Amino acid sequence: MKFSFLNPTKIEFGQGQIASIKNNIPKGSKVLVIYGGGSIKKNGVYDQVVAALAEHTWQEFSGVEPNPIVETLDKAVAIVKQHAIDFILAVGGGSVIDGAKYVAAAALYNGDGWDILLGKHQVNQAIALGAILTIPATGSESNGASVVTKAATQDKLAFISPLVFPKFAVMDPDVMKTLPQRQLANGIVDAFVHTCEQYLTFPADAMVQDGYAESLLKILAELAKNFNKQDDTWRANLMWTANQALNGLIGAGVAQDWATHMIGHELTAMYGVDHARSLAIVQPSLLRNQMGHKKAKLEQMGRHVFALPQSDALAEQTIQTIEALYHSLDVATQLTDYGNDKNIAIEAIIAQLAKHGMLKMGEHKAITLEKAKEILEAAVA
Ligand code: NZQ
Ligand code: ZN
Repeated sequence: MKFSFLNPTKIEFGQGQIASIKNNIPKGSKVLVIYGGGSIKKNGVYDQVVAALAEHTWQEFSGVEPNPIVETLDKAVAIVKQHAIDFILAVGGGSVIDGAKYVAAAALYNGDGWDILLGKHQVNQAIALGAILTIPATGSESNGASVVTKAATQDKLAFISPLVFPKFAVMDPDVMKTLPQRQLANGIVDAFVHTCEQYLTFPADAMVQDGYAESLLKILAELAKNFNKQDDTWRANLMWTANQALNGLIGAGVAQDWATHMIGHELTAMYGVDHARSLAIVQPSLLRNQMGHKKAKLEQMGRHVFALPQSDALAEQTIQTIEALYHSLDVATQLTDYGNDKNIAIEAIIAQLAKHGMLKMGEHKAITLEKAKEILEAAVA
């Protein structure tokens, strides 16, 4: 085990915590509040932000779409440059927070911001940002990752920089009350897959990372079983679990996979599948395809997370239990909506993976394009 770990984001957790932004955003800042399609105007979050910012100078940028697109975000970059904005407040889910991270980095770069996603420009400065989370799922509120799509070319790419960690993340579980069932289910699945991406690799005897990952997986399975968004503790536990699944801790010093995400991002970019749903489509087929590498960890997960008995079929039973969990949330594990021709769809996805350099994915770099094709053949109905 060898790692550096720093998560600098201050967490403001609990009911009523939106008011804390008043003290967490430096006085005298010129603030840009960035949000999405308007859910925050219907559930009172916007009003709470307005009240908390009474003593700040601020303006707003709305309309960041789910799976944010650079074409929209670049309009916010122009505003930041024009008005010398020096603090960005993201109010929304992963899409808004990821979008705000892009804006924070692109606004201090003289070239085309898309260079950051292409890896042509390494982020070396970013405007300070904070987040008010409205949907627990991605962990973006306290990590350094951002995923942005270029609509013109259907490229969905990520960048990671320690400079775009939010300074603070407000997590008030009450904001989840207006989330539709679909988004709550997405959140559970996304957090579950994030944990798997950092856990379902090969045994490394990392007892803290394994034990904590198993706890998170057990909690998510339990929350899925006792789905109850009216319950204060249910909401609080889901919000905190999804955050912990991708704040860097369980991935520290252990092998990570992320191939499900890389293939899933292509499904979202090409077919508009919700992020979490793209993962549920890919993951079971990927786990079966990579059984040779992942068997020991799948068996460990079966025993420790799902309390399944040891047997020769344990790894496969673990995958079936994962599928049953997603199905119980009305989340499909196969892609059904891709146009008429399965082969054309698969070829198109493989071509995008090739274009994005995803030639050797997974913890063993064993998921080649050939393997990705096998996975998709099983995952596309
Ligand atoms: O835009 P508004 O009107 O706010 O509506 C949103 C959106 O339509 C709605 N919503 C959010 N909070 C709500 C609400 N509706 C009612 N009440 C509320 N309290 O929910 C919809 C989905 O929002 P979105 O932000 O897209 O969801 P999510 O948090 O799942 O984010 C998905 C994005 O995050 C990326 C994904 O690729 C995708 O682009 N990811 C980011 C990661 C990261 N930064 O670490 C990791 C993830 O693996 C993921 O790739
Ligand atoms: Zn995800």
